[in-house]
Amino acid sequence: MALPVGIDLGTTNSVISIYRRGRPETLRVEGSETMPSAVCFRDKGNSLVGNKALNMAMIRPESTILSVKRDMGKAGFTYNLQGQSYTPIDISAMILRKLCEGHEAEVGGKITQAVVTVPAYFTDEQKRDTKLAAEKAGLDVLRLLPEPTAAAIAIGLNRGKDQTILVYDLGGGTFDVSILEVRGNTFKVKAVNGDHDLGGNDFDRALRDHAIATFKTQKGIDLNKEDAKDAQVRQALQVLTSACERIKKELSDAETAHLDLPNFYKGQHLETAIDRATFESLIRNHVYRTKDVVLATIKDAKLDLDDIDQLVMVGGSTKIPLVRRVLADTIREPYVADYVDLAVSHGAAIMAASMLDIEDADSAPMELNVQDVVAHPISIGLGDENRRLRCFVVIPKNAPLPATGMKLGAAPPGQLVGLLPIFRGGEAEPVQNKFLGDLTLTFTPSLSPTLLRFELMLDKNGILNVDGAEIDLNDVSPSALQYLSDDDIARLKIKRRTRVELKMRD
Ligand SMILES: Nc1ncnc2c1ncn2[C@@H]1O[C@H](COP(=O)(O)OP(=O)(O)OP(=O)(O)O)[C@@H](O)[C@H]1O
Ligand SMILES: [Mg+2]
Repeated sequence: MALPVGIDLGTTNSVISIYRRGRPETLRVEGSETMPSAVCFRDKGNSLVGNKALNMAMIRPESTILSVKRDMGKAGFTYNLQGQSYTPIDISAMILRKLCEGHEAEVGGKITQAVVTVPAYFTDEQKRDTKLAAEKAGLDVLRLLPEPTAAAIAIGLNRGKDQTILVYDLGGGTFDVSILEVRGNTFKVKAVNGDHDLGGNDFDRALRDHAIATFKTQKGIDLNKEDAKDAQVRQALQVLTSACERIKKELSDAETAHLDLPNFYKGQHLETAIDRATFESLIRNHVYRTKDVVLATIKDAKLDLDDIDQLVMVGGSTKIPLVRRVLADTIREPYVADYVDLAVSHGAAIMAASMLDIEDADSAPMELNVQDVVAHPISIGLGDENRRLRCFVVIPKNAPLPATGMKLGAAPPGQLVGLLPIFRGGEAEPVQNKFLGDLTLTFTPSLSPTLLRFELMLDKNGILNVDGAEIDLNDVSPSALQYLSDDDIARLKIKRRTRVELKMRD
């Protein structure tokens, strides 16, 4: 049987690794340790994935998909290319398939099992889509592992020291913070936070807007006012975006970088120099926002700054000096692995090996205990005394996974369904949360009232499952109902399971 793999399915780059001979090892794709998460469609059905697709983005931006990860979890979202439509799941599956191809010799057969990483701050829908994409690519998902947890495993394992680690992961499209307690081979997440729409792409865009303003000053052409659907405009913007990414990277090492695009748009040349201070002023707000999130996360974990033994930085965007400086000033000098681009995938490979007890020559099968937490609280909607709908948290943020939340409800005689609105978020005001649907229980009508139990569970991967039951009324006296604790509610005797749906409203 082939070895299980660990996959970092990134916004910009993806990495696949295995664990053998007592250590994680990156599997190269077309000679490189990282593969661009890019897909390009050529003629009917003909597609490119990875480096070749990224190169095509410049020439044919209209048929290339970049940063698909940002669109995961968007209900009904499709890309329409060459008369075909593709969901983010379809595109991610193509990336995963490409990553898994051609490693038969190294892993001992066709890859069928994987630990796939996701941002700690991904929502239930985003995680669900990631799992579906992996299944579509023929993979059995052993576990969806939060990226910072994976990095902590790669970096914190076998250090022989118990410690509290804060992982700061700033990649291409997402920002994640996790605080973990490491005790031997046990990795316990204490708190997570983040922003699933913040990363290096935003810095590229900030530079691009700056360059567009320069072009306007120099040549009097405002690209923002041109027709965004026009092929020439799209191409100019794509060329500029990738030039800005290159400049951004140069500015991590150099004080000044040059943008030089002859024949940029309508025959005009775009040329300008950008220094590091200017770049820093363009991204400062974003970077300070990440600092605020870090401080909030430490507070959520009920810790002080001094309790953080180690600050681990992963993700390509942590190569930016301003990012390191701000975090060093806030917490402490960061530890930066020399394999920062690979750490997440390595941690996933170690996790995969531990789940299947991979025996190998150099080390006994290891046991790894990984405890994740709830990233987004789940609430239910109930009428308050003025019959206004309010939300009440049933699964709190940072509760250990798997986590359950239950609610009892009585249905009058003759009624067939019970409804309970479900939200993601912990605000009392329903509009400030995301409505996930009505948990709808359909049950056997009865001449007496029916006691229903609405059941919500976030599984070990943080994916929401719903269930419902009719409760045996012999088991509980009606007057005691309102005094039941959550544990009491969970222990009530079930008469029968109901039919369950999580329904959106029309
Ligand atoms: N030297 C550098 N200086 C600044 N930014 C860099 C440097 N090297 C890479 N980056 C940026 O890092 C980002 C990619 O990082 P990484 O590969 O960690 O992201 P990812 O895993 O694809 O994304 P995510 O984790 O958000 O899903 C890109 O925006 C890239 O431009
Ligand atoms: Mg990443």
